Amino acid sequence: MSEFIITGGSKLDGEIAVSGGKNAVLPIMAASVMAGSPCILHNAPDLVDVRVMSEILRGLGAVVKRVNLEGQSIYIDPTTMNSHVVDEGLMRQVRSSIFLMGPLVARMGKARVSYPGGCDIGQRPIDQHLKGLKALGVSFSEAHGHITAEGPELSGVDIHLDIPSVGATENIMMCASMANGVTVIRNAAKEPEIVDLQGFLNAIGAKVRGAGTDVIRIEGVRNVGGCEYTVMPDRIEVGTLMVAAAITAGDIYLRNAVAEHVQAVTSKLREVGTTVSILGKGIRVRGSHKRRPTDLKTLPYPGFPTDMQPQMMALLSIAEGTSVISETVFESRFKQAEELGRMGARIRTEGRTAIIKGVPRLSGARVESSDLRSGASLVLAGLSAEGRTIVSGIENVDRGYERLEDKLAALGAGIIRQE
Ligand code: EPZ
Repeated sequence: MSEFIITGGSKLDGEIAVSGGKNAVLPIMAASVMAGSPCILHNAPDLVDVRVMSEILRGLGAVVKRVNLEGQSIYIDPTTMNSHVVDEGLMRQVRSSIFLMGPLVARMGKARVSYPGGCDIGQRPIDQHLKGLKALGVSFSEAHGHITAEGPELSGVDIHLDIPSVGATENIMMCASMANGVTVIRNAAKEPEIVDLQGFLNAIGAKVRGAGTDVIRIEGVRNVGGCEYTVMPDRIEVGTLMVAAAITAGDIYLRNAVAEHVQAVTSKLREVGTTVSILGKGIRVRGSHKRRPTDLKTLPYPGFPTDMQPQMMALLSIAEGTSVISETVFESRFKQAEELGRMGARIRTEGRTAIIKGVPRLSGARVESSDLRSGASLVLAGLSAEGRTIVSGIENVDRGYERLEDKLAALGAGIIRQE
């Protein structure tokens, strides 16, 4: 297992460009199976999850290859697809590939996926996905851990989601794009990645309106083509690097960050005493040695993002007072608390609430990453801790951050990867 070796205490300084969005490119790659001709995705990050999704598409018969036109680009030709069966082993690696179901049914009339199962942050049920697709006319059968979806004739419908699920909203948007008639999704998720998916779908010829609001309207079309599309920057990587500046009292400029996408994180960091300035097309973040405590509650967008909760927990561990975090989105997303405790943090968790009593400084230790964002949290803690921190299990971090250690080292952090 590879590890990050971190020597804490350096102030981050300098400027960096963030990579394309993991949670934007994955649904867009799923949507590409519907395209009538090849697509090229620009600003596509080279992440473990993207490589696995590429393998999944190849397993369906599509041609997928990295091409370097404008930086990181992926060429996908779905016209050679000859299967509707998603590889079980690969699907278990990227559970979020459940949103392949909708586009596969739209394109092939059927799909066979394995039950994605839970993961380290919670059960991750898919009832809203199934509810929406059933409403469009998809029928399901389950056996041996597989779900087979069939929908030879899809009809537009008015769907009200019980919860604003990101994946379910995306699955239904894609499936409805080629249904007969109009579909309206109410109580839809409003994340920026949904807006990016709408942009891609419309670029191949679909007719989707309203992404970013809680009502999305999709007018089904019979045929779609291909396109070139540039994926949005990763707003969670932006948030993570903003916290890196805050926790090291550094001064960094994130060249291509979209300020609108990180308003909730900006607001919380300002409460803590971090200076955040919007400059040109980027964001400047200056951390302070005086860090005030604050309370935060994770909520669907535009509320504070659950994917930034572990990173903020690391920062609040060294605030001058007590902070309270309420994690309302996932039921077990405090795995980092125990590991931060090994570094001297004083965190008590009770269900979905964490009480953090700030300490003057953390101390370096050997810690283990259990999932993507808890791993990022431990890296951030190591940047400011006294002495050396060794973070193991960083395969999790590689799922969502493209060479995080290179980006941090370029800003002056003492961090190396040890294979
Ligand atoms: C997406 O997951 C993201 N993943 C997650 O990012 C992110 O944390 C999450 O949205 C919330 O913003 C991708 O986009 C690939 P949900 P998703 O469906 O779609 C419950 C990361 O770290 N729910 O909005 O799975 C669910 O249990 C990852 O980058 C149902 O009850 O999230 C959760 O409590 C982690 N039934 C809540 O809704 C359903 O059918 C939000 O889940 C679906 C979800």
